[in-house]
Amino acid sequence: MEIIRRPHLMQQMALSLKRDKFKIAFVPTMGYLHSGHLSLVRRANQLGQVTVVSIFVNPTQFGPEEDYEEYPRDLARDAEMLKDLDVDVLFAPDATDLFPEGFSTTIENPSWGALLCGRSRPGHFRGVTTVVGKLFHLVFPDFAVFGQKDFQQCAIIKRMVLDLNFPMEIVVCPTVRESDGLAMSSRNVYLNPDERKAALVLHRSLQHIETLVGNGEHHGEKLTQALAELVGREPLARLDYAQVVDAATLEPLEKVDRKAAVLLAVHLGKTRLIDNVLLDPKGE
Ligand code: PAF
Repeated sequence: MEIIRRPHLMQQMALSLKRDKFKIAFVPTMGYLHSGHLSLVRRANQLGQVTVVSIFVNPTQFGPEEDYEEYPRDLARDAEMLKDLDVDVLFAPDATDLFPEGFSTTIENPSWGALLCGRSRPGHFRGVTTVVGKLFHLVFPDFAVFGQKDFQQCAIIKRMVLDLNFPMEIVVCPTVRESDGLAMSSRNVYLNPDERKAALVLHRSLQHIETLVGNGEHHGEKLTQALAELVGREPLARLDYAQVVDAATLEPLEKVDRKAAVLLAVHLGKTRLIDNVLLDPKGE
């Protein structure tokens, strides 16, 4: 595995791979890897002949009061974790190289970026689409692989790729969970033991909503209310939002009569966690 730090060297290598007709599969991450990331890498290995993983804690997607400084970082640990997987390049640029002084161009989907997580994290998705767009221009992937846990992020990136004609495919992989159901996230390390137990409320509540839908409840607002109520029963949890949306457009759904996503964001102490389930009433 080659480690590349400088953006222009990454781009030179990607261009030369493209000239030689290699298919590149790319896994963008912010590092502090866990099994969820590793499952994305394994999927990337199946998709392309060359696998590139990036590790970059992107300052532009954190709000001023958010955890940019505290976000866990350990490049040596991450490189060790990737060693036994079939990763060809680990791209780990510095923030000053990706966002040098004077940087002033952004990519934004203002409407989708203002929904759901965007309500409590204004500017977050502009930061995500800008960095992901830049990474795509440095890595030239044929495939980029993301995790379903970040459902809104996946939807916005898919839309960006479509709207801006990036010649590539976005592949979304299922959320990987701890044995008790908690969705894996680099931010889980922030949870104290009580919060860690309380965090199970996300998956438990979402599973309950799946059961309600399975039993014939298709009313979007009722499902949303039931979800909020379930989270409300956990004293350590503070609901940010619960919403049933059209999986393709992120619009709130009155009736679950097409592919839908049930999305949840919950604060546990200082940590904000997200999770979701997909509903497919027609079973397609
Ligand atoms: O999902 C993440 O880890 C980040 O938002 C991403 C896509 C790597 C962009 O910084």
